[in-house]
Amino acid sequence: MSRPPLLDLVNVTVEVDGKTVCREVSLAIGEGETHILLGPNGSGKSSLLNAIMGTGPGAVVDGTVTFDGVDVTDADVTERARLGLGISAQHPPALPGVTVRRLAHAMGADDRLAEATEALELDRMIPRDVNVGFSGGEVKRWEVCKLLLQQPLLSLFDEPESGVDLEHVAVVGRAVGRLLATPTPTGRARSALMITHTGFVLDHVTPTRGHLMVDGRLVADGDAREMFDAIRRDGFAA
Ligand SMILES: Nc1ncnc2c1ncn2[C@@H]1O[C@H](COP(=O)(O)OP(=O)(O)OP(=O)(O)O)[C@@H](O)[C@H]1O
Ligand SMILES: [Mg+2]
Repeated sequence: MSRPPLLDLVNVTVEVDGKTVCREVSLAIGEGETHILLGPNGSGKSSLLNAIMGTGPGAVVDGTVTFDGVDVTDADVTERARLGLGISAQHPPALPGVTVRRLAHAMGADDRLAEATEALELDRMIPRDVNVGFSGGEVKRWEVCKLLLQQPLLSLFDEPESGVDLEHVAVVGRAVGRLLATPTPTGRARSALMITHTGFVLDHVTPTRGHLMVDGRLVADGDAREMFDAIRRDGFAA
């Protein structure tokens, strides 16, 4: 008997501020799989990831989200994180008064802080407040660093390399690749759903499948690298 998917979206519709931004999205991600989400600006990709994580601003208004066998459609973000979902967000909030060190402590990740910050070359940020005054690239690197601290079973990466300089893109790519290649302490393989416009991160992961979102709908799927090359060559309409 085949195993049920780790993340299973069935006919998911997402609204942001009363506007439908994702429509009837069905997507299944198995344990150990990395799926790539492609699509033009404003097509609803981030809204989908934020709705899966439960961070808002959008929310699932129809359909179901099941993660690791639990219906999380209406679960709060803390419950989803405890079950093993994590996100590297496109527009994460700043946390004035909460240092990187303190957040790592609250996550129970004191023993991983040095290694994770070194991996993303962010060691000097440890005493600073999270995302307060971070540069655009530092924000993106911190988001990936945060996932190294959390060690989710399934990571949602929203353009982890966008705005990151060319040298640090490789740093981000290696960190993402290593996280996904390292099984959980109980031996489970990690999974991911990843948005990319640049494709750089595809050099560091083994994509299982690619999906194209246009106007809030998944309109095509296939081999992620072939889809990316086709978009680069012919645009989204091809
Ligand atoms: N808080 C909000 N209020 C109103 N509209 C919103 C809000 N957040 C998102 N939207 C709209 O929802 C649509 C989808 O946005 P989303 O951020 O999901 O796109 P995206 O595919 O991630 O784009 P990009 O590639 O530019 O990051 C857009 O038209 C956007 O303007
Ligand atoms: Mg986005």
